[in-house]
Amino acid sequence: MSANLTALAYLIASVLFIMALRGLSSPESSRSGNVYGMIGMAIAVITTVINPEVVSYTWILTAMVIGGAIGAIIARRIAMTDMPQLVAAFHSLVGLAAVLVAAAAFYNPAAYGIADADGVLKLASRIEMGIGVVVGAITFSGSIIAFGKLQGIVTGNPIVFPGQHAVNALMGAVIVLLVVLFAIGPESEWFWGMTLLAFVLGFLLIIPIGGADMPVIVSMLNSYSGWAAAGIGFTLENTALIITGALVGSSGAILSYIMCKAMNRSFISVLLGGFGGDTAVATTRSDKPVKSGSADDAAFIMKNASSVIIVPGYGMAVAQAQHSIREMGDLLKGHGVKVTYAIHPVAGRMPGHMNVLLAEANVSYDEVFELEEINSDFSNTDVAFVIGANDVTNPAAHEPGSPIAGMPILDVDRARTCLFVKRSLSPGYAGIDNELFYADNTMMLFADAKKMVEDIVKAL
Ligand code: TAP
Repeated sequence: MSANLTALAYLIASVLFIMALRGLSSPESSRSGNVYGMIGMAIAVITTVINPEVVSYTWILTAMVIGGAIGAIIARRIAMTDMPQLVAAFHSLVGLAAVLVAAAAFYNPAAYGIADADGVLKLASRIEMGIGVVVGAITFSGSIIAFGKLQGIVTGNPIVFPGQHAVNALMGAVIVLLVVLFAIGPESEWFWGMTLLAFVLGFLLIIPIGGADMPVIVSMLNSYSGWAAAGIGFTLENTALIITGALVGSSGAILSYIMCKAMNRSFISVLLGGFGGDTAVATTRSDKPVKSGSADDAAFIMKNASSVIIVPGYGMAVAQAQHSIREMGDLLKGHGVKVTYAIHPVAGRMPGHMNVLLAEANVSYDEVFELEEINSDFSNTDVAFVIGANDVTNPAAHEPGSPIAGMPILDVDRARTCLFVKRSLSPGYAGIDNELFYADNTMMLFADAKKMVEDIVKAL
């Protein structure tokens, strides 16, 4: 393939990636967005592999077969609810790949076409490599910790120690110094010094992050992984990788910004790993009595209501109750009840989690509203039907010092009656009790979400 044809193929792949991102911005177009992304990636991979500079296909094909097989098995087996940790694990691989490619290019710059006439790494490549390897190493270790926290292997509570921010700042300064020293003279001490310190920094940046703030961190690591890939793109002088990395980096940064706004967090402090540090997790359970009801009670209350807002959360995803919920909504509408859905930006375990599930169940998009669009409607609503959601409704967000302090919540308690479907009084992801379970206008419906909704459907 000529250089011009390669450049053209990469350009087409990049345009397809941009169309993929455009498509993924709405549930309606997300399927076609995925298809564009897959076609773009196929073009990029094929173009790279049939490059005349490839000297042997043995390693490439072996890696593609092993990696492809592992990827296919994981993709088939992974539960939708485990998606965030899978994404975190994949980010760590991007970070590690950036470090390994940089190391290969560092030890053999001539093979990568980045050596000067004396066979020494060019200045521009030293700078790109230094930045790329540091971002890659931070992404690698940070993503491993994020994976551990999301998987429950590492505690979801913030891990803090005195002077943490000062230690991080000092480490950051030493890393910058090592990147400069590496740019001046590409010695292996500087290369491995900055890489190892960046590994440690990635670890230290993520351990103080509390459970409820993980969504922001996962999207931030997504952004870092993009910048690390762009760094490898410069080292390999591969335009497709530079563009793809930049697209992932910038879209991840925009997503992090949106998540920060949703969680009421400062973008800068997230970027520097400096929040969530001094919160204590309260798990004390109230001794107050709770009112519990049956599917028949819930059906009776909702059939006689004029409006119901359904608030889905992580438990709906676990129970896969979205189809039954749509059925329940249709039956209620048949009884003349106005039914709408309220989506909190961090409900579930990944951005857009609830939108995807409701779209899968063919819930009409014009019945689905974001927090800021619908929150004021709760006070004029007869029933808030909260299914498998907890933290996103928890008024503890109004208390300073709580792990979710400052996070906007769905004001379900303002509805005349609040029905909570969950299996027990257990807390949600942030590990804190929800006082709404004991409120006068709350009725708890203790059951698996799908089972309860199916029973309500029968009763209706
Ligand atoms: P959570 O606060 O995690 O609460 C989910 C509730 O669902 C639990 O209290 C659980 O109670 C219930 N549940 C679990 N399985 C169930 C089942 N089969 N049937 C019925 N109920 C079931 O969920 P949320 O309100 O959606 O809040 C999301 C939380 O996850 C936030 O803290 C957010 O920060 C965090 N998070 C979000 C993301 C993204 S990007 N969305 C990523 C990582 C973390 P029982 O055990 O009593 O049933």
